[in-house]
Amino acid sequence: MSKEDKYTAETITEITTWAPNLFSFKLTRYSGYRFVPGQFSRLGIKKEDGSIVWRAYSIVSASYDEFLEYFSIVVPDGEFTSRLAQLEVGDKVLVEKMNYGLLTTARFEEGKDLWMLSTGTGLAPFMSILYELETWENYENIILVYSVREAQELAYMEAIQGFKDHEYFGAFAHKFKFLPVVTREKFDGALDKRIPVLLENGELEKNLGINLDPNRSRIMICGNPQMVDDTRAWFTDHDYTVSRRSKPGHLALENLW
Ligand SMILES: Cc1cc2nc3c(=O)[nH]c(=O)nc-3n(C[C@H](O)[C@H](O)[C@H](O)COP(=O)(O)OP(=O)(O)OC[C@H]3O[C@@H](n4cnc5c(N)ncnc54)[C@H](O)[C@@H]3O)c2cc1C
Ligand SMILES: NC(=O)c1ccc[n+]([C@@H]2O[C@H](COP(=O)([O-])OP(=O)(O)OC[C@H]3O[C@@H](n4cnc5c(N)ncnc54)[C@H](OP(=O)(O)O)[C@@H]3O)[C@@H](O)[C@H]2O)c1
Repeated sequence: MSKEDKYTAETITEITTWAPNLFSFKLTRYSGYRFVPGQFSRLGIKKEDGSIVWRAYSIVSASYDEFLEYFSIVVPDGEFTSRLAQLEVGDKVLVEKMNYGLLTTARFEEGKDLWMLSTGTGLAPFMSILYELETWENYENIILVYSVREAQELAYMEAIQGFKDHEYFGAFAHKFKFLPVVTREKFDGALDKRIPVLLENGELEKNLGINLDPNRSRIMICGNPQMVDDTRAWFTDHDYTVSRRSKPGHLALENLW
């Protein structure tokens, strides 16, 4: 296979700005592009000298959508995102044809409650998982926790709150519990402490009205690497195990950097 065969050049069709440092974009989708909800793509941007900078990006869109959607931070002076943020509708982004990643519900066996714990753009893979009918069918309770610094950074609120009236998922809406966490300002309806603190002091379970239990709970964690480490540590101290390829457990994790 030649180098060119490893990726396709896709076109930006839509850009949504959520906050000064946060936006989403849609790309055309190569018809052969396959992925499992929760997986990530490798995206490339051609630099001024002709070389390509590649970065991992969790896929927000559903496996059945005709487009690919991604949710991005803008890192000041970041090699990739400072260029990405300059692009407009009609510009090209390269997408590797391979799909990647193990943050999928296939990592688990026999769970009843699916807990998805995210910070920042770590929300992305969970949107894709929530767009999948199987997720709603397979679990009795589906919990999404989404932690950001400031309320203006809570992206995808319309989509998240819209699941209850959704054409297909609405019938399962009683299963869904959403808890926003805003850590650097007060915001109505949101908790204000970091996820591991909320686990330790019991506030998370109390606010969601559901108990964690290794026999039922399957936990996905995505976002800030320190959050992933601290949250994993809380769970492993409480009899949960990390899923391995050879041995399914209770936890599936992904660091964004
Ligand atoms: C499996 C995987 C999935 C990813 N999915 C996404 C995604 O869906 N959306 C996304 O924006 N990024 C995602 N990332 C991060 C992404 O690959 C890049 O790091 C990011 O686009 C910044 O690139 P950069 O070259 O501008 O800065 P980099 O040089 O890559 O990063 C510079 C610094 O910026 C900070 N940083 C990087 N990414 C983030 C982030 N997402 N949120 C907050 N701070 C960050 C870190 O402090 C990092 O050290 C993912 C990374 C991995 C490994
Ligand atoms: N978001 C902004 O306003 C802003 C502004 C300028 C630059 N940046 C840059 O953007 C990047 C950060 O983006 P971000 O705000 O999406 O990511 P972030 O710093 O990871 O914060 C997102 C959420 O994760 C929480 N968090 C951080 N560390 C945690 C841990 N160890 N355990 C549990 N929760 C934890 C944060 O809580 P805490 O609030 O308690 O940290 C916040 O609620 C950095 O590179 C930063 O320099 C961001």
